[in-house]
Amino acid sequence: MNAIVLVDQIWAIGREGRLLFNLPTDMEYFKKLTEGGTIIMGRRTLNSFVEGRPLPNRRNIVVTRNADLVPPGIEVAPDADAALEAVANEDPEKVWVIGGGSVYAALLSRCRRAYVTKVETVAEGEPDTYFPDLDHLPGWEVEETSEPVTENDLTFRFVRYVNRNLDSAS
Ligand SMILES: NC(=O)c1ccc[n+]([C@@H]2O[C@H](COP(=O)([O-])OP(=O)(O)OC[C@H]3O[C@@H](n4cnc5c(N)ncnc54)[C@H](OP(=O)(O)O)[C@@H]3O)[C@@H](O)[C@H]2O)c1
Repeated sequence: MNAIVLVDQIWAIGREGRLLFNLPTDMEYFKKLTEGGTIIMGRRTLNSFVEGRPLPNRRNIVVTRNADLVPPGIEVAPDADAALEAVANEDPEKVWVIGGGSVYAALLSRCRRAYVTKVETVAEGEPDTYFPDLDHLPGWEVEETSEPVTENDLTFRFVRYVNRNLDSAS
C-alpha cells in the first residue's frame, strides 16, 4: 500500500483539523490516484471532510477507538492492525493511507511508497500535525520528482518516495 500526503517545507501537514494549503491541482492528483481504490484514514481526517462524508468512488476505512463517532455506513477499523486486515485481499497498489498524523505514524512503515506533494514554503501560523521527514528516515529514497508547479502563489512538486525497508519483506 501507499501513503499520500501534502507537506510544507518542514513536513507540517495540518493545523486545527485542517489542511495547510488549498491546491486544486494537488486535489486532482489525489483524486486521480485514489479513485477506484481503498483509503484508510483517522477519524479526525474524516471529520475534516465536507459534513464528515466519505470520499466518493473509493472504499473508505476509518480508524477509531469509538465507532459511535463515525456516521453509519462508513467502514470502521478499531485499530491499525484491523485496518490492515480489512485490506488484506485488496491490490496493495490501490490501498492508500491518507492521514492524518496519527494514522501515518501507525502505518507508514507498512507502505511501499509515499506520494508526497512538497510545497516550497513554511506554512503560516502554527501547524500542529506533521509527517515523518522522509529525507532523514532510514530506508526511504526519492524515486521520482516532478517539475515544479505554481498555483495560488505557491510552488510545489510531486515527489515519490520508496521504502527500501520492505525490499526483503515482499
Ligand atoms: N496534508 C495532508 O496530506 C493531510 C492528510 C490528512 C490529514 N491531514 C491533517 O492532519 C490533521 C489530522 O491528523 P490527526 O493525527 O490529528 O488525526 P487523524 O490521524 O486523522 O485521526 C486521529 C484519530 O484516529 C483514530 N486513530 C488513529 N490511530 C489509531 C489507532 N492506532 N487505533 C485506533 N484509533 C486510531 C483516533 O480516533 P478516535 O479519537 O475516534 O478513537 C484518533 O483520535 C488535520 O489537520 C488534517 O487536516 C493532512
